[in-house]
Amino acid sequence: MATTMLFETAFAKINLALHVRRRRDDGYHDIETVFAFAQAGDALSAELADEVCLTLTGPFGAVLAVDEADNLVLRAARAVQQSFGIKAGAHLTLDKRLPVASGIGGGSADAAAALRLLARLWGLDPSDPRLMTIAELLGSDVPACLGSVTGWADGRGFPVQPVEAQGLSDTPLLLVNPGVAVATGPVFRAWDGVDRGPLAADASIEAACAGRNDLQPPAISLAPVIGELLALLADTAPRLSRMSGSGATCFALYESLAARDTAAAMVAARHPDFWTLATALR
Ligand code: C5P
Repeated sequence: MATTMLFETAFAKINLALHVRRRRDDGYHDIETVFAFAQAGDALSAELADEVCLTLTGPFGAVLAVDEADNLVLRAARAVQQSFGIKAGAHLTLDKRLPVASGIGGGSADAAAALRLLARLWGLDPSDPRLMTIAELLGSDVPACLGSVTGWADGRGFPVQPVEAQGLSDTPLLLVNPGVAVATGPVFRAWDGVDRGPLAADASIEAACAGRNDLQPPAISLAPVIGELLALLADTAPRLSRMSGSGATCFALYESLAARDTAAAMVAARHPDFWTLATALR
């Protein structure tokens, strides 16, 4: 019997701005953030199988362990099976194109793509609220990645209110990672505790420019190369350049594809070891 292969993109997430407002008693922080998504990301495919299993491929595939306790795609699959009483399995293949632990969703986007893909493969209603409940249990960024549309969130990072991306769709985008993996928890813990004020629930370039990423200074203190990368990007005449999430990946938005590609070539010439991805906002 021929099996059908289904595909989903795990769109890279960026935080256009991320304000940290408060340390909470549960170990998390209250943030305010505008999420946006790249048109590119990891590629996930699946076909029906007796059991759930995962194959990793791609430039960053070897970095991730296929460990059930740890791998977010496998945890997402198990959670869907349990929550919906699914007996079928799935052979999933994750083509890992985005660097791991890098502030652009990575594992969260992969988990969210797995939820969308398995809902299709196993014939579930994609709007079933149990999928969002699973997303919330898997991680703070997974709910945003489930929809992968521009949105504003507070609290831990969900629920996400979609906001109109005012003129941002198709904006040329460059992502650069300076080759250091930065874990989210230590960056939040290194935040200085100063509330620098709220973030407007507005996804315009002006609102994003008026915002900040409050995790940038603590991330730079842990990985100074992020500061060097940001200085380099600021020299490429972007509309906006900033670190995403807890880093270390930084993003820059440009007026034109030519400006983006010139910047990408400059970064690659200066730092051949840095990872770059030239794409655009969804
Ligand atoms: O939710 P997630 O597992 O992705 O979070 C990883 C870590 O990042 C948490 O354990 C916490 O230390 C930190 N975090 C935080 N406040 C948030 C989101 C994450 O302190 N809003």
